[in-house]
Amino acid sequence: MILITGGTGFIGSHTVVEFITIGLDVIIIDNLYNSSQVIIDRIYEITGTKPIFVKGDIRDKAFLISIFEQYPIEMVIHFAALKAVGESVLKPLEYYDNNVSGTLNLLNVMYDRGIKKFVFSSSATVYGNPHEIPITENCPIGTPINPYGQSKVIIEKILQDLSFADKEWSIAILRYFNPIGAHESGLIGELPNGIPNNLLPYITKVASGKLPKLSVFGNDYNTKDGTGVRDYIHVVDLANGHLKAYDYIKDKNGCYVWNLGTGKGYSVLEIIKAFETASKQKVPFQIKSKRAGDIDECWADCAKAQKELNWQAKRDIYTMMVDSWRWQCNQSK
Ligand code: NAD
Ligand code: UFG
Repeated sequence: MILITGGTGFIGSHTVVEFITIGLDVIIIDNLYNSSQVIIDRIYEITGTKPIFVKGDIRDKAFLISIFEQYPIEMVIHFAALKAVGESVLKPLEYYDNNVSGTLNLLNVMYDRGIKKFVFSSSATVYGNPHEIPITENCPIGTPINPYGQSKVIIEKILQDLSFADKEWSIAILRYFNPIGAHESGLIGELPNGIPNNLLPYITKVASGKLPKLSVFGNDYNTKDGTGVRDYIHVVDLANGHLKAYDYIKDKNGCYVWNLGTGKGYSVLEIIKAFETASKQKVPFQIKSKRAGDIDECWADCAKAQKELNWQAKRDIYTMMVDSWRWQCNQSK
């Protein structure tokens, strides 16, 4: 059985669907801070299987022990974290407590029970301002400019140290680029709290009339059209990357790092255009000043994941937009 922390969240729920679809047993734990239990019913609607769900917090050691005592867990896929970059600057203690202490707690409980297989949600944010583009896994980790990014760097380091000290651990560190889109059923997707920080949820809210206008943060970046360029990846492709990582580490020891992206970069203006084409909606926008901490551009070199995991993102930008929009429309019903 596989324990999925944060499994009712955006990426976690899509990963649960993919795991269940190939017949794996999963148990989800989530404190529902940024998600809803309704997602469990939605997973059932999509897959015909209701995953075990237990509400609880990864910082609660007694809770974790009880989970590991009750269920035959062999591997942990660890999504649970706080992820709002701006908020992390204002609330560093909360972010380090939730992300770093929470992960340490989980690793300690796993260690005590001799369960040493772990998949971790890291982020392209660890590269900071990248030294090379496309970014390979060998690109040095940069200086993250916010506590959220720093929490990912710290956990990656803990995992590397753990694998060095105890060769029985099997660890996959997955560095996600920019996940967008939603399940094609329109039943699960991203549920940002309040006003979204990220580009796609903001665009879909503007298109549905819930927000008046998109602010494009800067048009004088050193990029093809002056706006920021990122590697957007469909969340279902990302979820499939977890399946491949699971398969790879289940019989191997060591600590492995893979980028999960598409290898293609799209500017903010290109994304607006792609969304307008796919959704047939207008997205009013205005150019605003740069957002603090944003880099010009980044996209992944995914050769390592392709070679070692036999994984490649399949869904194109049009599909990402269509699926994001379908999800948003279902939210408004
Ligand atoms: P999400 O907020 O949708 O999902 C995270 C889930 O974890 C939520 O359901 C939340 O309720 C839960 N959670 C948070 N703290 C918890 C705790 N202490 N105990 C139990 N549950 C807790 O976020 P997501 O976009 O699905 O992100 C999943 C992971 O991927 C996170 O680790 C995030 O940092 C990482 N990541 C996300 C992105 C992105 O752009 N979405 C990019 C790179 C990395
Ligand atoms: N942008 C706008 N207007 C908005 C929101 C974003 O112009 O309202 C621009 C940004 O300036 C950037 C691009 O759209 O150029 C993408 O911004 P996002 O906020 O969607 O994504 P980021 O690349 O800043 O960061 C996201 C997550 C991080 C994660 C990273 C991985 O927020 O947590 O992707 O690459 F680490």
